[in-house]
Parts: sequence; structure tokens; C-alpha cells
Amino acid sequence: MSSRPIRFFHRGAIVEADPAAATRTVLDWLREDALCSGTKEGCAEGDCGACTVVVGELGPDGSLQTKAVNACIRFLPTLDGKALFTVEDVAAAGAGAASAHSTTAEALHPTQQAMVDCHGSQCGFCTPGIVMSLWHCYERYQAAGTRPSRQQIADDLSGNLCRCTG
Ligand code: FES
Ligand code: FES
Repeated sequence: MSSRPIRFFHRGAIVEADPAAATRTVLDWLREDALCSGTKEGCAEGDCGACTVVVGELGPDGSLQTKAVNACIRFLPTLDGKALFTVEDVAAAGAGAASAHSTTAEALHPTQQAMVDCHGSQCGFCTPGIVMSLWHCYERYQAAGTRPSRQQIADDLSGNLCRCTG
């Protein structure tokens, strides 16, 4: 068995993780090793979506193919050669867009702003996961130059449960 480190892209850099951590989850790595606590643990069994992150990899045509996944049931070695995006990246993207347009550095990504404008967060525990599902939806349709239907947005959010609203 190879002892080469697990390598993947995270927050602007290639990071390495111990290959011995074969059953370490992406969620545990994020919260305990990378100290990125934006991603939450709810059920820890793949049901609630609080831990939603986005994993990207190059497709056959060289384009970035992305998928929203539950970090609590995704083992770290499966990220090898891929890219990991979390709610911290969404905040950074919002801030980047803000500086590019000479507004405030605290500007939110459109998906985060929509959550604020529509009072979409109560206790906030599920919110990072919902933001990641919405961000993934937004970026996919933006890249394709199309807009999702209400049903397509609902489908993208179908893995996210909110305990405040039931
Ligand atoms: Fe991962 Fe609930 S904490 S799906
Ligand atoms: Fe509280 Fe969703 S806002 S769990």
C-alpha cells in the first residue's frame, strides 16, 4: 500500500493529509485539523446536510465537475487529486466580488445575501450546509448561462434538513 500523502486543493493551496487516516472523515479533518469550523456536524450519518461541502475534479474535457457531498460520511482519502470547497470559500468569494466592485469587503455571496434577505436562517445550525447546496446550484447554472427553476432549486436542497422549521 502506498504511503504517499493524500493531496487535494483546499482554500487556495494543495494540502497533504496522512494516508494512514483511511477512515477519517472529511468533516473531522476540516473541523479538527484544518480548523475550518464553518461546516457543521448534525446527524453524522449522511441524513441532515449540515455538513454539506462541494468536491470538484477535472472532467474528461478538462472542465471542473463539482458535486455537493456530505462531509460526515466522506472519507478523506477519496479527496486525493480533487478540490474541496467549504462555506469558508463562499465567504471569500463574496468578499472577492466585493473588492472587485469597490464595495465593502464584508459583502456576502449572492446565496448568502438571499438567505439574509429572505430570513432563511433561524438558529443557523443548518445554514452553512444550505448555503453550500445553494452555492453549488448557483455556480453550476451561472457557468452554464442558465437559471434554475424553482423545482431544480428544491431538488438541490432536498438533502438539507432544518430542525427549526421541521
Ligand atoms: Fe452530515 Fe448530517 S452531519 S449529513
Ligand atoms: Fe435552525 Fe435550520 S435554522 S436548524
